Amino acid sequence: MITTGICRAHTNIALIKYWGKRSEALFLPMNSSLSLTLDAFYTDTKVSLDDRLTDDVFYLNGRLQGAKETAKISRFLDLFRRTAASSTRARIDSYNHVPTAAGLASSASAFAALAGAANEAFGLRLDKQTLSTYARRGSGSATRSLYGGFVEWHKGQDEQSGSSYAIPVDDADWDIGMIIIAVNTGKKAISSREGMKRTVDTSPFYPAWVTTAETDLQQMKQAIAERDFTRLGEITESNGMKMHGTMLGAVPPFSYWEPDSIRAIQKITQIRCNGTPCYVTMDAGPNVKVLCRYSDSERIKEELLTEFSSQQIIVSRPGPGIKVLSEAE
Ligand code: PMV
Repeated sequence: MITTGICRAHTNIALIKYWGKRSEALFLPMNSSLSLTLDAFYTDTKVSLDDRLTDDVFYLNGRLQGAKETAKISRFLDLFRRTAASSTRARIDSYNHVPTAAGLASSASAFAALAGAANEAFGLRLDKQTLSTYARRGSGSATRSLYGGFVEWHKGQDEQSGSSYAIPVDDADWDIGMIIIAVNTGKKAISSREGMKRTVDTSPFYPAWVTTAETDLQQMKQAIAERDFTRLGEITESNGMKMHGTMLGAVPPFSYWEPDSIRAIQKITQIRCNGTPCYVTMDAGPNVKVLCRYSDSERIKEELLTEFSSQQIIVSRPGPGIKVLSEAE
């Protein structure tokens, strides 16, 4: 017998970053974070439980994946198998929908979609908040992709896995946009997991990061409640820069920035100085994300075209939360 579940999840970009784990095994973060879900990037995943299978089989964008990639997915599905008291193996078909040449495949949308599809296939009926704690175990940032708009991920208490979940903050149904400047879409040398660990273990700047991330979060939630775009942008830029600062203090120091990342940051600063509010944030890679008013996005894109090709610039609106799909969609 085959039972299936299909789910779509959009990726998210953190405006208050998650950087550092207090539990590696449970993916429990040191600080709470807040993100914007994006419309332009999403993953569709189908989980087909098949009692004839002896192992899980994982296809990504139509290509059969190797042992390492499949083992990660299997460990994740084991969480659902345990809850469902099932030992049935699955075929997983996952498609990343990313605008051409952007190559920004995201573990956030991937694990949120997989969690949603597994929830359906195993018939667990977990609510979204609980499901966000499952998604977290695949990739921390996936916790936040359960919901659309602005989303907060509560760090939770102690070692309690169930207390570290996402909640929706605001649907972002106002004049908000994000521009992705794809600087380099190759695989990064230092994974976010490795980078976080080195920073937590060795950077003297890390304690300051944790304390200020909490105050940044409170101030950002207030800015969102007041729809104060300038304040939202200022906190976004300052919080992201602080996260990258912690890495310069690590031993050995490291950075995800490339020359073109700095070129993009300088261009955005210049556009802002000329009167259009726009703010930069970056994650564990060289690509630059720009928070702006959606109504300004075409104008900003025009300006960026003096430095980057049109394939490198992707404009997105805020996106929705996870959606269960039927076979026909
Ligand atoms: O959960 P991961 O491994 O995708 O780590 C995410 C880390 C950052 O992107 C740098 C910050 C964030 O909150 O998304």
